[in-house]
Amino acid sequence: MKTITLHDKEFELYIPSYTIQSRVKGLAEKISEDMNQKTPLFIGVLNGAFLFCADLFKHITIECEISFIKVSSYKGTNSEGKVKNLIGLNEDVNGRDVIFVEDIVDTGITATFLTNEINKFNPKSIVWASLLSKPNNLTQPISIKYLGFEVPDDFMVGYGLDYKGLGRNLQDIYRIKN
Ligand code: IMP
Ligand code: MG
Repeated sequence: MKTITLHDKEFELYIPSYTIQSRVKGLAEKISEDMNQKTPLFIGVLNGAFLFCADLFKHITIECEISFIKVSSYKGTNSEGKVKNLIGLNEDVNGRDVIFVEDIVDTGITATFLTNEINKFNPKSIVWASLLSKPNNLTQPISIKYLGFEVPDDFMVGYGLDYKGLGRNLQDIYRIKN
């Protein structure tokens, strides 16, 4: 089994690149089919989603637009222990069919926050596309219409996902070794 080390942790190969690529292409085909006759606005959530977003977008065959946002979060004193801030939305989303693109939905807190923020600008529709999801950790009622893979509650790196800044450039996805 292929393993790598990032900082102080060891990771083992979990989803090889060819499996990711074929799944991403399949998701893009499904989106193109479902959104035919529409001009969706893809909104990629930086940093983690940059590779997934790029590969997904390359395989979209209908008219579409793309933009990127960032969520800054810092420790606060509210019940969730985190206060979030939305950065970088320049597009007018009023009346648009929005497709959020995430690397991973874990608790769903980020996705819920973003859905609420974008809803304030009256989009026509919002759906979520996420490469990974950890259903065991989900605490929010977020539905992911276009999901790459369900994964167990283990830390993942690679293909955009990082461990303390490292690992985003890996073509495969790796899971932390216990
Ligand atoms: P949520 O708000 O709990 O759903 O967390 C979403 C964010 O946490 C993702 O966009 C990632 O940036 C980060 N995250 C959650 N799980 C992992 C993981 O296994 N590896 C790397 N980042 C993760
Ligand atoms: Mg992310």
